[in-house]
Amino acid sequence: MCGIIGYTGKKEAEEIMLDALEVLEYRGYDSAGIAVCGPDGGVRIRKCAGRVKDLRSLCERDGVEGACGIGHTRWATHGGVSDGNAHPHKFGKVTVIHNGIIENYKSLIGKYGLEAELRSQTDSEVAAAVLSHFYSGDPYAAIRKTVLKLKGTFAFGIMFDDIPGAIFAVRNVSPIVIAKTEEGSMMASDVTVLGQYSKDYFVLPEFHVAVLRADGTELYDMSGDAVEPEWLTVSWDVNRSSKGGYPFYMEKEIMEQPEVIRETIEPRIRDDMPDLEGDGIPDSLLSDCSQICVVACGTAMHAGLVGKALMQSLVKIHMDVELASEFMYTDSLVDGKTLVIAISQSGETIDTLEALKYAKRNGAKTLAVVNVKGASIARESDYVIYTNAGPEIAVASTKAYTTQLAVLYLLAGRMAYVRGIFGEKELKEFTSELRKAPAVMQTVLDRREEIHYIARGMLNAKDVFMIGRGLDYSILLEGSLKLKEISYIHSEAYASGELKHGTIALITEDTPVVAVITQDKVQSKEFSNIKEVQSRGAEVILFMKESYRLDQDAVWDSVFKLPAMRDEFMVLPVSAALQLLAYYVSLDKGLDVDKPRNLAKVVTVE
Ligand code: M6R
Repeated sequence: MCGIIGYTGKKEAEEIMLDALEVLEYRGYDSAGIAVCGPDGGVRIRKCAGRVKDLRSLCERDGVEGACGIGHTRWATHGGVSDGNAHPHKFGKVTVIHNGIIENYKSLIGKYGLEAELRSQTDSEVAAAVLSHFYSGDPYAAIRKTVLKLKGTFAFGIMFDDIPGAIFAVRNVSPIVIAKTEEGSMMASDVTVLGQYSKDYFVLPEFHVAVLRADGTELYDMSGDAVEPEWLTVSWDVNRSSKGGYPFYMEKEIMEQPEVIRETIEPRIRDDMPDLEGDGIPDSLLSDCSQICVVACGTAMHAGLVGKALMQSLVKIHMDVELASEFMYTDSLVDGKTLVIAISQSGETIDTLEALKYAKRNGAKTLAVVNVKGASIARESDYVIYTNAGPEIAVASTKAYTTQLAVLYLLAGRMAYVRGIFGEKELKEFTSELRKAPAVMQTVLDRREEIHYIARGMLNAKDVFMIGRGLDYSILLEGSLKLKEISYIHSEAYASGELKHGTIALITEDTPVVAVITQDKVQSKEFSNIKEVQSRGAEVILFMKESYRLDQDAVWDSVFKLPAMRDEFMVLPVSAALQLLAYYVSLDKGLDVDKPRNLAKVVTVE
């Protein structure tokens, strides 16, 4: 989960690393630190609990000179949040930053008699100590011997006191990307931060050792043989990594959705029909499977739930959506006729990655829907479709979710066609409606102040319920997660019809209820369910298709009328509305919208 950065070149490392850590802060933000190898060869460390801005203040008071350094922003796992547990960790001649978890750290402490020598409670310092134990002048030998002793996941940036100007990198599962810049070399936990320095990067292969120097990077396998890196090009516009004048990334990313959805769907439409040939997806992948299973977490899993509703109604195929973290432990019935779709913004979520590997071991065909090019989940899958959302920095996922939905629409449409359910005419009509979605979403975004006004009524709520049926329920699960994670208001999404089976006991005049009605076939039932909560005193905030008529007998607290699309596409404008609702509640509560407490953007621990 942590963010890591390394730079060696001609410029001062401190400033470059502090800037980079600010960008990487979304990966973890409870403490931060840097280590710089000075002109005299000595390594100096500055680190503290708190945000990168606190580290910057520390460096302003007492900076470190040198053109080679490693930096870290932490999401605590082993050891609480403290200055001492912040990275980098130095042991003997070895300085280390680490992302991941060393599961056998306790047995390593015993084996190498480290108990009395450790100064932190972290598993990472133990790895530094083991490296130091094996180091006697040959860094490659020390790294090789150390990684053979480690159980768990790791991405390390390593400096040795007596090898000034060089950074060594090695990893298992946790990602590292390496770039060449005009005047040096850089490594990072993800490519978002490298885009402003270079377009050329490669993903460090697992169990390979890279050494970064000012004049370039060498790569070796575990036998010590040189390996040619597979260079990639950063494909997104670096301006997308800035806030672009918005107070928070989340608002900017919400507002970017019409554009990035267009960028996701348009290159994949030929002759007015979805065509995934450019992604290397053969029609046989879509026609030959007998069932589909999505593995994903959080928001990406919610995208899968919308996909399931679409696939089952349009394609008439059985589809499961599994929480990736549970998938391996529930005896899932995947086989050679199952298409497993792994959905992930980052492409690095370890639960999803492990679920994908499990599906492959069971013979399933695998397809990744991923936003970050070259990410582990993309590389592990048989096939990949990239969402073109660009970098998503806010911890709360917004544009990644709706571009995942866009890909699922393309897949559902194409699948219905290749399985003979849609003819050309039906597929063209479906595609034409999908193409309208960005403009329809834009009209919701243009009315964001109306939603801001509605949000003000929720600021003091302790509990909120969100109710809807069918696709509306699927989207409310996501709307509810969004509200919880950034506003800290307890919220539960409920299928409206289920409420009366127990949960309605919790409805009082102090529990606002957000209701969504966009599906014609359940419209009247949904209005009845709303009456049930209104009768128990709840204030109802209603998002409904503009063509529906309100019951004039009822008292409506807040109503937002959504521009109409075909029912199966209404989730897109509803998503934008619910994202804005959560955003404005968090904003008006004065919270750190982009970096909610306890969370991190990329979840690389199980
Ligand atoms: O990178 P991924 O899409 O695999 O991440 C999955 C979840 O961790 C992520 O969607 C999380 O739920 C977000 N914070 C939700 O906004």
